Amino acid sequence: MTLEDMKKLFETRQSCRKYNPDRIPDSQTLKEITEMSMMSPSACNSQPWKVYVTNVPEKVRGLSKSVQPFGANKFADKCTAFAVITETAACASEKIGVKYTKRDFISNDLGILCAHYVLAAKSADIDSCILGLFEEKAVKAVLDIPEDLKVRLVITLGYAAEDDKIRDKVRKDLGDTCEFILQ
Ligand SMILES: Cc1cc2nc3c(=O)[nH]c(=O)nc-3n(C[C@H](O)[C@H](O)[C@H](O)COP(=O)(O)O)c2cc1C
Repeated sequence: MTLEDMKKLFETRQSCRKYNPDRIPDSQTLKEITEMSMMSPSACNSQPWKVYVTNVPEKVRGLSKSVQPFGANKFADKCTAFAVITETAACASEKIGVKYTKRDFISNDLGILCAHYVLAAKSADIDSCILGLFEEKAVKAVLDIPEDLKVRLVITLGYAAEDDKIRDKVRKDLGDTCEFILQ
């Protein structure tokens, strides 16, 4: 894979808010991208996560409802699969690291995992949207997620509708977000 290939992947991965409700990602592909995302790095290689993945229509319908608090995320009614990112216990050395540095390594780990997930999905043509807005209790109830796990992020998955075009990226000026100190 070249830098150009990666650039194209980054440009075409976009938060999908218009899914084709008739196309469901197949189970094998979902398994493969999920396994790929497990290669994501984490502090002390702690991997403080468990990812729940479903394309079962009844579960998908339940999750779609659970990610629409205050009428948000209505587009989720048409996605056809979900990945739910839960936080599990960090390993002892990550916990020590968090305590002494007072840095939130675990949120970093989970964010990086999500980035790996959505890019792996896009490489298989599966569109996605990371959601921070959801009803945790409802998500847990749909998937029987144990009490002690915290749902940190939810990812809608599916295939974009035919007329959902690739948008230009809206990003701050590079001068505001990057500082190059290069020779
Ligand atoms: C942690 C996080 C939470 C997000 N929550 C939502 C959400 O609840 N609903 C939504 O429509 N988009 C959500 N997004 C998507 C962002 O709005 C989106 O990534 C951003 O606008 C950039 O657009 P792009 O992903 O299409 O490049 C979230 C993204 C992240 C990383």
